[in-house]
Amino acid sequence: MFPILESKEIAKNVFLQRIQAPRIARKRRAGQFLVIRRGELSERIPLTIVNSDPAEGSVTIIFQTVGKSTAEIASLSAGDTLLDVVGPLGLPTHIENVGTVVGIGGGIGTAPLLPIATALKSAGNLLLSIVGARTKDLLILEEEMRAISDRIVVTTDDGSYAKKGFVTTALQEMIDAGTKIDLCIAIGPVPMMKAVAEVTRPHQIKTVVSLNPIMVDATGMCGACRVTVGGKTKFVCVDGPEFDGHEVDFKELVMRNRAYLKEEKEAMDRFVHKGGKCMGSANSAAKPAADKTPVTVTTGGAN
Ligand code: FAD
Ligand code: FES
Ligand code: MG
Repeated sequence: MFPILESKEIAKNVFLQRIQAPRIARKRRAGQFLVIRRGELSERIPLTIVNSDPAEGSVTIIFQTVGKSTAEIASLSAGDTLLDVVGPLGLPTHIENVGTVVGIGGGIGTAPLLPIATALKSAGNLLLSIVGARTKDLLILEEEMRAISDRIVVTTDDGSYAKKGFVTTALQEMIDAGTKIDLCIAIGPVPMMKAVAEVTRPHQIKTVVSLNPIMVDATGMCGACRVTVGGKTKFVCVDGPEFDGHEVDFKELVMRNRAYLKEEKEAMDRFVHKGGKCMGSANSAAKPAADKTPVTVTTGGAN
């Protein structure tokens, strides 16, 4: 059992939890992730290790509630426990001083970006950051990214805060201004990572993306996280999660990520029906009953 030491909502439907996991806290490196299972009947989901405190023996996760499992974990408070926390998983980010790095975080993608950007800055790189979200309420970790960045541009798609527009517009402006970029690392929704790779491709700027396919076992055995990179099959859980953005078959990734939409919606609807709180799920049409509070039960079913 892994006790939750702290749980708080840091933006609309975005939660930060500090979890006691001393061995993982000691070992983990930037770019690695956990697989978490709330209870016996819950599914396993991958979440990035955003930070760790080896002295306290804790790891920090930041996640957005998009369906049943994230809503279930978000409903937990300090003092509650998680049944399984497995990690650190995935290959750590390759960290070296390459010169100037542009770190781009879109929406919840800024959470996985933060530890990588921190490590790249510590290695001596000049760090230019672009942090964006659809709207002000969904913007996260602006201050944390500002604190480690030599320069930061903040964008919102709808102009509700900071610069109006997409992260790719800010990136294009940097390139047009003649900024010499040695490495671009982009983490966010798949269309955003694809768009960033298309902006950098003509300029031959090395672009790393962190992929988020559906994972099941996260040991390279089940094949769920299969992606095609440079025409070759890769398993994101053991070969990634980071890959060359110019080589990724994003179309296939989008298609595979949508494979279980019906089952995901049904799982969320069952969760809400049993009293779980919806918390703005992207998949579910169901709304939580007004008199229901978040619950800490685990639910059955495929999810
Ligand atoms: P569901 O309703 O079941 O699914 C919603 C969507 O999430 C699906 O359409 C699918 O695209 C994706 N998804 C569903 N199940 C899985 C699964 N088992 N594995 C991966 N994706 C799935 N999210 C964060 O908010 N913060 C993070 O730091 C973070 N880090 C990640 C690191 C890695 C290496 C990967 C692969 C994913 C990461 N994610 C992160 C995404 C997170 O795992 C999914 O949002 C979560 O699994 C959704 O589960 P759900 O039951 O709440 O939603
Ligand atoms: Fe099973 Fe990667 S999640 S092979
Ligand atoms: Mg799910």
